[in-house]
Amino acid sequence: MAEVVIVPSAAAAGVLVAAEIVALIRRNRESVLGLATGSTPLPVYEALRAQVGDLDLSGVRGFALDEYVGIDPSHPESYRSVITREVVEPLGLNPAQVRVPDGSLAGIEHAGEDYERAIRDAGGVDLQILGIGTDGHIGFNEPGSSFASLTRVKTLTQQTRADNARFFDSVDDVPMHCITQGLGTILRARHLVLLAFGAGKAAAVAGAVEGPVTASLPGSAIQLHPHATIVVDEAAAADLRLADYYRYTFDNKPAWQGL
Ligand code: F6R
Repeated sequence: MAEVVIVPSAAAAGVLVAAEIVALIRRNRESVLGLATGSTPLPVYEALRAQVGDLDLSGVRGFALDEYVGIDPSHPESYRSVITREVVEPLGLNPAQVRVPDGSLAGIEHAGEDYERAIRDAGGVDLQILGIGTDGHIGFNEPGSSFASLTRVKTLTQQTRADNARFFDSVDDVPMHCITQGLGTILRARHLVLLAFGAGKAAAVAGAVEGPVTASLPGSAIQLHPHATIVVDEAAAADLRLADYYRYTFDNKPAWQGL
């Protein structure tokens, strides 16, 4: 079963997950991080900035989950720009070691395969940070995505485009297509850490954690993973039937286990 950790705030989640990442890098300075974009992971990146101190990050490698197709990489809302702004620059990571799927139209047919190869060549992702969409997507694997899928081009649902319109001037400016790690790609990461905050995510979180494993709710793929940690605030945890059990389990968890 996935481990669910219910925290008082997004900031508290950030501190908890950042500590896990710091511990990972202390164990292996060449750790490979799977990086999500969107609003959800921002408290993690902020807490990481505060926690890294003099830790040597020069060996750390990163792979973003997804990118819009056809967006200019220099557009402030391209995921290349977001990862550069929120992760690479503030943490001082080596930009050459942090990849984002290539969403340019030229070569898009083989961009997915290239990305899969790069992840494999890096030895796979050690810790994958995930958010979840209101429609249950992880990465940009929209409902119906195969659990065996690898990095490929997908069409965003209208719901996802509407959700992401806040980053653009209007919903019409949100690209229609994306290139995303597949559910199969995500499931290969050694540790999944899915975060969700706010009442708008409660249904998707409950479906992902406690609902049937179904491609209709791609986030439910986490139930197939041997080491998945779900970190949610009270509002996002509101629909979880076993919330009290999750609290009890976490309160009594041996400290040596980490997240
Ligand atoms: C982003 C990603 C998406 C988001 C999801 C939630 O790289 O893969 O799955 O995590 O759309 O977005 P926010 O965090 O903005 O609510």
